[in-house]
Amino acid sequence: MTLDQANGLRELVERSRPAGAPLRVMAVTSGKGGVGKTHIACNLALLFARTGRRVLVIDADLGLANADIVMGIEPHMHLGHLLEGTAPLQEVLAPGPEGVQVLAASTGVQELTRLDDAQKLRLVTALDFIDDRFDLVILDCGAGIGDNVLFFAGAAQEVLLVASPEPTSLTDAYATVKVLSQQAGVEHFQVVVNQVPSDLAGREVWQKLTGVTDRFLTARVSFLGHVPRDENLQRALMAQRPVVQLFPRSPASRALQGLADRLLERSPPASLQGGLKFLWQRIQREGAPAA
Ligand SMILES: Nc1ncnc2c1ncn2[C@@H]1O[C@H](COP(=O)(O)OP(=O)(O)OP(=O)(O)O)[C@@H](O)[C@H]1O
Ligand SMILES: [Mg+2]
Repeated sequence: MTLDQANGLRELVERSRPAGAPLRVMAVTSGKGGVGKTHIACNLALLFARTGRRVLVIDADLGLANADIVMGIEPHMHLGHLLEGTAPLQEVLAPGPEGVQVLAASTGVQELTRLDDAQKLRLVTALDFIDDRFDLVILDCGAGIGDNVLFFAGAAQEVLLVASPEPTSLTDAYATVKVLSQQAGVEHFQVVVNQVPSDLAGREVWQKLTGVTDRFLTARVSFLGHVPRDENLQRALMAQRPVVQLFPRSPASRALQGLADRLLERSPPASLQGGLKFLWQRIQREGAPAA
């Protein structure tokens, strides 16, 4: 996807979205893999659902699908079935805990930028449904900067960037900011630093990142908060329950609640209100954008 295409899509979203509460679309990304995206995405989903919002998690990590494990569900169908026309979205969605719905990915689903016409039509029909039935969509993206990540991050109004204190996580985070800003037009990233003991330690990691992004890139990179290393997270995973449900008073759960509160306090940028539907409608009309 080129920057012009991404900006064109956003303008279209702005003009097309009717007045009223917009569908809020949040992408959770990272440079390096295994830094905690799926845990953060799934637990935030639960916390948002507790505020009465209708929440959908799209497991957009088409390589290693694992939102279902964190949520403790066994979806019988996935995005692949939807694209192939085996079942409509209503049947593909899996109910997760506390009313959260999950659209599972599957290994081996092709690049979404290369769908054929029939598949695009099915996807757009599904997005219409999502637009009507949900208030908030969380995209659990794969790590890095593949086509699908560009595609999903380009559709989101808000991009969370999960980093860990390891040096490789920082250099990979920088590369992600660079590519998502230059190729998908993402102008703002909200950084969550995982596996650090305090907000202060998280801020230090964030400052290292902005030391470089501020020098070389125009994207705004702000600090959202930290999640501490907490073995309750591992315990929750073994029990296949989200940590905020199984251990609501654990350090990780408290930190996640802080992130959720801050995200809900900050409304999404007004100029970017919109959703997935318009993005994909445009893609359907104009053909898949070149990566
Ligand atoms: N704050 C934490 N405390 C302890 N363990 C954690 C924490 N965050 C993540 N982990 C552990 O790190 C591992 C990776 O987490 P997770 O699957 O959420 O990462 P990911 O970024 O989604 O990975 P991938 O890139 O493969 O999708 C998991 O085993 C998880 O239990
Ligand atoms: Mg993951």
